[in-house]
Amino acid sequence: MSKQTLDRILQSQGFGTRKGCRQLIANGDMTISGETVTDYRASHETNGLEFTIFGEPWIYREHVYIALNKPAGFECSRKTSHHPGVLTLLPEQFTWRDVQPVGRLDHDTTGLLLMSDDGPFIHAQSSPKRHVPKFYIATTHDPVTPELIAHLLSGVKLHDEPAPLAAMSCRALDAHRLEIVLEQGKYHQVKRMLAAAGNHCSALQRSAIGLLTLESLELKEGEWRYLDEAQRALLAPAAL
Ligand code: URA
Repeated sequence: MSKQTLDRILQSQGFGTRKGCRQLIANGDMTISGETVTDYRASHETNGLEFTIFGEPWIYREHVYIALNKPAGFECSRKTSHHPGVLTLLPEQFTWRDVQPVGRLDHDTTGLLLMSDDGPFIHAQSSPKRHVPKFYIATTHDPVTPELIAHLLSGVKLHDEPAPLAAMSCRALDAHRLEIVLEQGKYHQVKRMLAAAGNHCSALQRSAIGLLTLESLELKEGEWRYLDEAQRALLAPAAL
């Protein structure tokens, strides 16, 4: 059980500053159980709370866990330089509540990107100690050969890495596409590994993290959804 005042509730959900949220409530923009609430000091149980704001339904969530099918042309960094940020693909409430990408995909990489405002979740999910496998589908400039697969599996030396990096698994999907599974998330890792192995990555998609596949989420590019507990459990190494 956790009770909070209405202004804090609205603020926690990303509807602006405390002052702004107080104003929204005073304006009669929030209803609970069909009743307009106007006293921002009133306390309400947050667990299972559903309300409307500007006439739209909203479910209270202490934290959000989101899967986005990232399109090309969006940056994961906070301070974007050449392309819009991935947060512009989500409702603005998520920016207010400090939702962040879990790890990064390059601006031209597409596919499964997790986002959350739960610090420990972001940290745990990005920690190299967790060995969470990330699945990528790489399109290659030159044909995929058994030698290329063997090279990626045995390990390739990248110039700023002390030890060779090897794929957890790797298989050809067709003449110019391979699936590569990595447990690390080094900068441009797939592209650099392919280059170091003598090929070139011309397109890259992340297709799964742990046992959570992009396909199972049924998201078109640019679409997102909340992850429920069962879906989050698929990300945990215990499930692997
Ligand atoms: N490896 C890359 O090269 N780029 C990504 O976006 C992810 C993994």
